[in-house]
Amino acid sequence: QVIGVLVSGSGSNLQALLDAGLPVSAVAANLEGVPALERAARAGVAHAAFPLDAHVDRAARDLAMADWLVAQGVTLVVCAGYMHLLTPAFLDRFPGRVVNVHPALLPSFPGAHAVADALAAGVAQTGATVHLVDAGVDTGPVIRQEPVPVLPGDTPETLHARIRAVEQRLLPQVVKELVGA
Ligand code: GRF
Repeated sequence: QVIGVLVSGSGSNLQALLDAGLPVSAVAANLEGVPALERAARAGVAHAAFPLDAHVDRAARDLAMADWLVAQGVTLVVCAGYMHLLTPAFLDRFPGRVVNVHPALLPSFPGAHAVADALAAGVAQTGATVHLVDAGVDTGPVIRQEPVPVLPGDTPETLHARIRAVEQRLLPQVVKELVGA
């Protein structure tokens, strides 16, 4: 298996995959200049940005991104803080081979504001989930999840920091199993 990682932000989950020695061959972002792309550059991994405004629509952007990943030999796609929905045009190129890490215990708190939503709901625990990606918003089958307690005085930032620590352990473990490493 050859791993391609999709990113949008700081890339701490990408870094965890790299540090675990996993065979990451390509990193793609939906935005130019995000810190995660610098991590790829530092690690000597092929990387590219596919901003939406450079393509006619999302499907065209996703096809370009899928073509590039396939050209890099990618067989397993890991969304690591990738903050855009993938279109069927992309998913059809990697059937059952796209996973995502999400900062909540799905199916609770899907979407882009999972940590703040969990805090606002007053739950005693939230967590991290690794799941297969389908065309919905964080709806694909769960592969593994782990709870994280909400502590008194938590802010979205303090809670997210503890969830990130769990994500950075859980994601490399699951990916390792998926690639049979
Ligand atoms: C992670 O918590 C991920 O689950 C979420 O956004 C964060 C991205 O972090 N959707 P990073 O870019 O991997 O540092």
